[in-house]
Amino acid sequence: MDSQETKKARQNWGSRLGVILAVAGSAIGLGNFLRFPVQAVQNGGGAFMIPYFVALVLVGLPLVWVEWTAGRFGGGFGHGTAPGIFHSMANKNRFVKYFGVIGVFGPLVILIYYTYIESWLLGFSFFALMPSYGEAVARGEVAEFFNGYLGLAKNDYFGGLAPAYIFFLITFALNFTIIWFGIKGGIEKVSKIAMPLLFLLGIALTVRVMTLGAPKNPDWSIGAGFNYLWSPDFSKLGDPKVWLAATGQVLFTLSVGIGVILTYASYLRKEDDVVLSGLTSAATNEFAEVVLGASIIIPVAYAFFGPEQIAKIAGGGSFSLGFVTMPNIFGQMAGGAVFAFIWFLLLFVAGVTSSISLLQTPIAFFEDEFDMSRGRTVAILGIVTFVLCQPGIFFLSKGVVDELDFWGGTFSLVLFATVEVLLFGWVFGMDKAWDEVHKGAQMEVPRCFKFIIKYVTPAFLILIIAGWARQEWLPVIMMRNVPPENKAYVLAVRVGLVALFVLLAILVKIAWRMKRKKGGAV
Ligand code: ALA
Repeated sequence: MDSQETKKARQNWGSRLGVILAVAGSAIGLGNFLRFPVQAVQNGGGAFMIPYFVALVLVGLPLVWVEWTAGRFGGGFGHGTAPGIFHSMANKNRFVKYFGVIGVFGPLVILIYYTYIESWLLGFSFFALMPSYGEAVARGEVAEFFNGYLGLAKNDYFGGLAPAYIFFLITFALNFTIIWFGIKGGIEKVSKIAMPLLFLLGIALTVRVMTLGAPKNPDWSIGAGFNYLWSPDFSKLGDPKVWLAATGQVLFTLSVGIGVILTYASYLRKEDDVVLSGLTSAATNEFAEVVLGASIIIPVAYAFFGPEQIAKIAGGGSFSLGFVTMPNIFGQMAGGAVFAFIWFLLLFVAGVTSSISLLQTPIAFFEDEFDMSRGRTVAILGIVTFVLCQPGIFFLSKGVVDELDFWGGTFSLVLFATVEVLLFGWVFGMDKAWDEVHKGAQMEVPRCFKFIIKYVTPAFLILIIAGWARQEWLPVIMMRNVPPENKAYVLAVRVGLVALFVLLAILVKIAWRMKRKKGGAV
């Protein structure tokens, strides 16, 4: 019998607050402070908030409840990742577990570039307080400093990648150390310290920004910056790319459609509430995104650079805004070094609480499906992910990270979300699913969501994929937007990703074969 009793004891969360903070920690990440404001500006400003809120209600929130419920359900059968969870939900159908591979692939792919970016933030938290960085800021050479750090240029500040590599090693080791201490002793403990710290830092920066007034030009006030961010360009609403961007952002920021909330929820107990807890963590994330995330970089960049330059600045992307524009701005404020330190530390803390969730998913896969000890899993995955991180570090300028972000951080999410919501509403069955959602629930989900989860969420996601595919499929496959000198690298990444996916599918096959040999019904 594939039941709770036959499986070895799994770890559990120590407290309700702990799991809510851990999930909120997973959700609040670089996506909130860097990705969201840039997506908003690039996709219609205030008008972006229409597809964003539509996607939040029709896709994000339903998926929060689906993942918390499915994770808790699968955890009861000893499964903490999508292959096993889907297998339990689909009555042990032979094929469904392979769809779950996307839910291990996604976190792994995001992890391998996310950890590196996170390490830049640790590096720059350190540099923010160093005189050499202060000098670079004073000379207006922040971009040179950043490019030197990333190994994109050799200059007076950096002669190579060694400093970046050291910060990467520290960040990588930190993530694995937290995971090594387990759910309660590692993730939960860290989240309980990191989340209040994150809010403190975020609120401090927001207050600083809000009280700046108009530091450069009376017409370029912070208020005008908010106006710029939120003024709608409705012509963008007819563009499927804007809807894909909004839906992708909602999934990315809530950490749903990735596979990680499934894993976190699998450590809940059978009667733990998922409805209110899920809603609370999602609301916490939205506060951090729409209130804090949106209030910092765009309004402040507007106040310092004005309407002429802001579009160009936002068009330069998240990294240039976060690592070049922001330090330049802080350099013009009293106490700028301290604010730069707060900014980078805020992003680093947000990054760590997200990357540990990305890491826990592949860890749970090996622990649960191969019955491996945590120590062994951490060691093996440590080696594997370390190797996988290298192309992003050494071939950053060749578009490797962008490629990983597209397939791991956008495409997989929308695809996985579609598969899991269809499975939940149609294969598991909506009546059974609704009962499961409400086990131990401390509030009722409005009944309209029964209809939304079954029909609207999958239809919405399928429409998004179809609209995107019609417009973008061929150019993406043919690499039409990839500069010729990067094509070989992008192709190599794609081949590597396909190989990784196939390897994970083979591992699923092997795991279930081993289970059958051991004699348990699987
Ligand atoms: N949800 C995480 C973020 O927003 C991955 O960065």
